[in-house]
Amino acid sequence: MAIAAETPGGSLSILSPDFYDYDWTPLSSATIVDDFVLVRWPDGVELKAYKLWLRENAVGVGGVDRATREGLLDPADLDATERIKAARVATSGALEIDWEHEKASVSYHPGWLRHVAEGKHRADAWVPSQQSWTAAEWSAPPTHEAAGFDADRVRTLEPWVDDLLRYGIARLRNLPVDLGTCLRVAETVGAVRDTNFGRTWDVKADIEMAGAADTNSTANTNLRLGPHTDLPTRETPPGFQFLFCYANDAQGGYSTMTDGLAVVRYLEANHAEHFEALTTLHWVFFNRGPGIDHRWSGPFIDLGVAGAPLTLRAFYPVRGFPDMDPVDMPRAYEAMSVFSRLAASDEFQMRYPFEPGDLVGFDNRRILHGRDAFTAGGYRHLRGAYVDHDEIYSFARVANRRAASVAHYRQG
Ligand SMILES: [Fe+2]
Repeated sequence: MAIAAETPGGSLSILSPDFYDYDWTPLSSATIVDDFVLVRWPDGVELKAYKLWLRENAVGVGGVDRATREGLLDPADLDATERIKAARVATSGALEIDWEHEKASVSYHPGWLRHVAEGKHRADAWVPSQQSWTAAEWSAPPTHEAAGFDADRVRTLEPWVDDLLRYGIARLRNLPVDLGTCLRVAETVGAVRDTNFGRTWDVKADIEMAGAADTNSTANTNLRLGPHTDLPTRETPPGFQFLFCYANDAQGGYSTMTDGLAVVRYLEANHAEHFEALTTLHWVFFNRGPGIDHRWSGPFIDLGVAGAPLTLRAFYPVRGFPDMDPVDMPRAYEAMSVFSRLAASDEFQMRYPFEPGDLVGFDNRRILHGRDAFTAGGYRHLRGAYVDHDEIYSFARVANRRAASVAHYRQG
């Protein structure tokens, strides 16, 4: 009896270990190779599936729960002595396996196996790959019309989110000019990342105030803000930052944005010694105030692990101490100066004004943001929010999986 196939040989009744719809892609062969099953499709694609992985992903027979589609097997209970007795392709094209200890045979959806063979299960699947840029490619953020946002919030944001992941920055234009817009956009994408600055926060520059004495941040003054990333004081700084413009009649104060990824690649190719110093020597970043003491030690350029986004820790107002041998300090400072000069150069940095109704989103760990000094009187009011990488990636995967599925059914 094939447990997962309620209709013998049927295809639609075979459950996959998740809730996605997979194309039915019949197998051409299934061969046991030691503790693996090598499955093949007619076009030559193949997958080598390990026995315990198959055992874990057996739906409804103790591997994956039918209702939750979550795994049930604690690794401590995995039976390393379990053996695949037989593996074959069912008439439907599904994989069928007879286990030595398990009494029933188990069927596996060939479309689900195929998506693993094609790497569509990986963390970088269903999202656009990153494209680095300089000011020659983009002199202002890639821009998407958003006047219809409140009529269809998700669909309005989908192409914008793809550009956020691709270029690290993208702009929405003509959003409703009310102070709730920033949070509505953020919450449409996912959970908002709260910080000690609140779920949303305001950046106000009243140029007549000459220094804004009651402010707790350089952002709320009329001073220039050099290229930086926010909150390097955290183990994981916020992934994306959204800045919504509510009002702006000030002169100057243009936003500046630099693709840190492009600067990192340039340094790696042209200044290996600075790249090495920036990726290995640590600094302590700190942010103190009544009741808070955030601090983290990390390199200026944190490349992370393979497949994870890089993190630039580039905010001089909260960079406290070199966390390195004194002998390394001169080269650490030199490398950091070179990086920051490149980041502020016309070659790498775009410069553009904010207009009421604009929302610029950017990867806070990849893109360095800043602001020119204001040159004449006026008032500018931005509202910001943070949304972590996980939320943006999830939103994009859902949208792009759905788009692929719609395209498939249209073709079919
Ligand atoms: Fe900032």
